[in-house]
Amino acid sequence: MTTDRTHDDAHDPGTERDPGGHRRPLVLVLHGARGDLARRLVLPSLATLHRRSLLPERFALLGTGRTAISTEEFRDLVDDALGEFGQEGTRAADVEALTRHSWFAAEVTEDDDAELPDALARTSEALVDGLDGVDAADVTVVHYLAVPPSAFVGLTRALGAHGMHRGPAGQEGDPRTDTVRIVFEKPYGTSPETFRELDAVVHEVFDEEQVFRIDHFLGKEATQNLHVLRFANELFGSVWDRHHVERVEIDVPETLDVAQRAEFYDATGAALDMVVSHLFQVAAQVAMGPPEDLAATGLVRAREEALTHLRPLDPEDDVVLGQFEGYREIEGIADDSTTDTFIAARAWFDDDRWRGVPFLLRTGKRMAASAQRVTLVLRRDPEHLFGDEIGPSAISLSLAGDGAIEVTTTVKRPGPDLALATGTARLDLDDVEPGEPLPAYASLLDDVLVGDRTLFTTPVGLAAAWDAFAPLLGDGRPEPEPYAPGSWGPRAADDLAGPDGWWLTTRQGETGQR
Ligand code: BG6
Repeated sequence: MTTDRTHDDAHDPGTERDPGGHRRPLVLVLHGARGDLARRLVLPSLATLHRRSLLPERFALLGTGRTAISTEEFRDLVDDALGEFGQEGTRAADVEALTRHSWFAAEVTEDDDAELPDALARTSEALVDGLDGVDAADVTVVHYLAVPPSAFVGLTRALGAHGMHRGPAGQEGDPRTDTVRIVFEKPYGTSPETFRELDAVVHEVFDEEQVFRIDHFLGKEATQNLHVLRFANELFGSVWDRHHVERVEIDVPETLDVAQRAEFYDATGAALDMVVSHLFQVAAQVAMGPPEDLAATGLVRAREEALTHLRPLDPEDDVVLGQFEGYREIEGIADDSTTDTFIAARAWFDDDRWRGVPFLLRTGKRMAASAQRVTLVLRRDPEHLFGDEIGPSAISLSLAGDGAIEVTTTVKRPGPDLALATGTARLDLDDVEPGEPLPAYASLLDDVLVGDRTLFTTPVGLAAAWDAFAPLLGDGRPEPEPYAPGSWGPRAADDLAGPDGWWLTTRQGETGQR
């Protein structure tokens, strides 16, 4: 999101740009480059950054995988990935830009004679060739771990063992940490215990400032708009608290099936897949108090602090789990699986701003609609005007796609009588000049490249999120209730929302909008 710098005018030219005014040369080491995540998301996002002139001019991509392939084969792999998931028309130019200095090496392990450190050193030298006043020690190196979470610990240790957690010594003689970054995909830990283990190993090797933990929901345009909307507009900022907001909903129903990734899904479930990573983080983005400043440190601190006020979920009163009918018939799913494919939860932030305001979280597979909504339903005071009941009013953001902001208010019903009606005004974010939102992944990748950590999670917030989630992991975990595919989940989930129901459910068909 680049809060404290812009691409045309870097905040800190000394660290991010070379003396000619270009972005510092950069090597991206894509660990797991042959995997699905790299093909579907990382490579296409790099191509997007290239098309938007957001890749440093001097850029190299090094791939790693369990077995080495030739540079030509790696180039073909990038070409294939962009053919399938990239943008037609610019494919050849994108492939050329990404692979001009590319290399592929077998993945490093702690005790092998790895070729990657040499490849990295050679590539860094090649990138600065012919540049005045910049040497290989100034090259930024980003290790992107597009590997399964079970490989995070081993790989982190291996990078440390080969000294790749530090850059080459700079002029002062000490190996540099400001030039090396590491990116972790979600999930960063799959339980409170594995989160703590991973975090301990990561901090044995890297400094926190070097670590970027991705939660792509934080990179969505509309999520980024939450704090702009609020802190830049008195109209919204003045109602952002318990005195004006009756409830907040973070609602992410999906019509998607799980058949393509049955094995992963059955071992994970909706709650683990979506709550700690996405829904709690977005909830904190809504709940945060005013930051000290709108620069990275202020915003991160405010969001993480909000998470520390999250009360542990109460599985008995505040959580409904569901499993869609037919789930156990899917190939790869056990006949007696009790995995949840749906969760609805009522979360609470115990701070002065939000005390008593339920944050309703909901997500699931095979549901009636696909949407990604954050809605602040406003209190009605008074409840009647001219004898007519006042309808609900709300500020609602669609996080899906390029994002949208909707405001629902009570207005006069058009016509001769003084009666009330409800109307919604919608602003599609891609209608705002210059109308070119960045997809979430590309946006976060851009932040990694320029070193902006605003939209990345930290151990403070994650530890708090895991504490709040922990009651769902124990004996108290509710039994998932069956629901019909194509429905809004188990009936008990409707009751969580109270008499007015879920915003999206009750208004579905009215707007039909995601
Ligand atoms: C992923 C989850 O992190 O986010 C998926 O593992 C979910 O289950 C997805 O479908 C939603 O992502 P998107 O790209 O639709 O915002």
